[in-house]
Amino acid sequence: MNITYYGHSCFGVEINGKHLLFDPFITPNELAKNINANTVTADYILISHGHQDHIADAVTIAKRTNAKVICAWEISVWLGKQGIENIQPMNIGGKVKLDFGNVKCVSAIHSSGLPDGTYGGNPMGFVIESSEGNFYYAGDTALTYDMKLIGEYRTIDFAFLPIGDTFTMGVDNAILASEFVNCQDIVGMHYDTFAPIKIDHFEAIQKFESAGKSLTLMKIGETIKK
Ligand code: NI
Ligand code: MN
Repeated sequence: MNITYYGHSCFGVEINGKHLLFDPFITPNELAKNINANTVTADYILISHGHQDHIADAVTIAKRTNAKVICAWEISVWLGKQGIENIQPMNIGGKVKLDFGNVKCVSAIHSSGLPDGTYGGNPMGFVIESSEGNFYYAGDTALTYDMKLIGEYRTIDFAFLPIGDTFTMGVDNAILASEFVNCQDIVGMHYDTFAPIKIDHFEAIQKFESAGKSLTLMKIGETIKK
């Protein structure tokens, strides 16, 4: 799998030739000013919840690419009113089989109001299962014991976890989360974008290392293989 970081919690993941785009928030992100949201590819756009810092570029990219948008039912209705038709509405506990693999929605402890105040349903995380490997994209969430279920059903090869604290888990809880899902290989997200979530990179990486785990903090625009 090729993984490209677009800043904040926005990643492109290429699996079996298909491009998945998670939580598109590029244009308003000062740190991602070198990324052109008009050239980002997507066959699928997965949206964990309705907050602006996860959905800002979703409508524009969905319209340009005609990517299928995977999100909570309430968000799908909101997107539908903005002219998005190619949508896979889901809710927590549900799994769909798609051409690249499976998407399962799992719980996230957070909130999910849309930018205009519309109710966005429950926030979610995603578990992706594919012939190229499995991973967990946590979205915005607190540490929750429910994460143990994720690691019990299948192997999680790597996980995208929020580490910025204040609005989500911080580093210490993310280490526990990685233990809960039984995963050693973590890619950090939801840090540095705004003042309250700025973190010390060196300290974060050291803490994961002391726990016998690896934390990758990707450069914005960087692509890595998993
Ligand atoms: Ni949020
Ligand atoms: Mn957020």
